[in-house]
Amino acid sequence: MKLWRIPEDNNDTPEARTAIEEASALLRAGGVVAFPTETVYGLGCDAVNTEAVERVFAAKGRPSDNPLIVHIAAERQLEPIVKPYSGTAAKLMAAFWPGPLTIVLPARQGAVSPRVTAGLDTVAVRMPAHETALRLIAAAGCPIAAPSANRSGRPSPTRAGHVQEDLEGRIDGLVDGGPAAVGLESTVVEAEEGYIRILRPGSITAEELAAAGGCEVIGHAEGATDEQSGQQAAPRSPGMKYTHYAPAGAMTLVAGAPEAVSGYIMEAAVKAAAKGRRTGVLVYEEHAAAYEADAVLVLGSLSRPADAARTLYDALRTFDQLGIEEIWAQAWPLEGIGAALMNRLTKAAGGRLVQV
Ligand code: TXA
Ligand code: MG
Repeated sequence: MKLWRIPEDNNDTPEARTAIEEASALLRAGGVVAFPTETVYGLGCDAVNTEAVERVFAAKGRPSDNPLIVHIAAERQLEPIVKPYSGTAAKLMAAFWPGPLTIVLPARQGAVSPRVTAGLDTVAVRMPAHETALRLIAAAGCPIAAPSANRSGRPSPTRAGHVQEDLEGRIDGLVDGGPAAVGLESTVVEAEEGYIRILRPGSITAEELAAAGGCEVIGHAEGATDEQSGQQAAPRSPGMKYTHYAPAGAMTLVAGAPEAVSGYIMEAAVKAAAKGRRTGVLVYEEHAAAYEADAVLVLGSLSRPADAARTLYDALRTFDQLGIEEIWAQAWPLEGIGAALMNRLTKAAGGRLVQV
């Protein structure tokens, strides 16, 4: 595996230009190359080249019915791959691209490999807000299909080291661009005339989408229960039905007043430790002093949930490295990026949420 380093704050050096040339040539030649974006690292390949796309699925161990996001560097790369789309989608592109927003659009048949769309008649597209990613995609000259660059079921990579942990020896190249600024995957939406539906929450919030799209926003259906029918909502995005972001230890999310939460968690942790289990907690800076465990990991301050979003996946991987067997996490408020943070925490906990 070829490794290049391109610091985001110093990416116009001769070394950086050579790195972009080499990495983009590898992509054009059907290689699979991991690269940084503002959300998480992606594992990229030429979206038109079915063999290359198959190598991405194989490297990740990803189920083949889970479609990939196509990354573009400029709007002129959009027209060849999509059919006419809604005015709402156009407004969202104008407001948020480049940025951490993926829009599910009507696919132009045959424009990208059918393996990218997993046979759907839609294609998910995003233009990342990351200088190195944009230059790499532009230099490759083809749309780049890229899932997160982790082994399937592992937390998404927010640093190059995470990609190496998961994919060393399984991919052709890795562009190290330093730590990801957002740390959670993009918001994924359907954007139709009159409504936007959030398929996966992210750092672009429902309020921001409503303001930019000028229409109603339907909350994400991910794992959601339809309250009227009591039925599990049908997954609209195939990826939703898979377990994700799971640390090796069993995780429980605990919500309630801070003292009640720390009381509950410490009682459970003491019991687990007495049985010889290695324990971990994932807490706010403000309440960290109330906890004792084999690993006490601080996600960030309650007043800066974006910090928590940025550090979550690294913390989940740290628990694994420390051999932590039981993990408890404080629930976060749902405002702003908190909704996306809680969505990922809930998935990491396999849905185990205790209200105290
Ligand atoms: O931030 C991100 O989105 C990162 C970076 C690398 O761009 N990528 C990422 O890709 O998170 P991945 O493959 O881990 O997640 C893609 C999600 C999956 O839940 C997939 O099911 C959904 O997008 N998706 C892809 N194409 C779709 C489509 N046509 N319709 C509905 N959902 C789609
Ligand atoms: Mg992923």
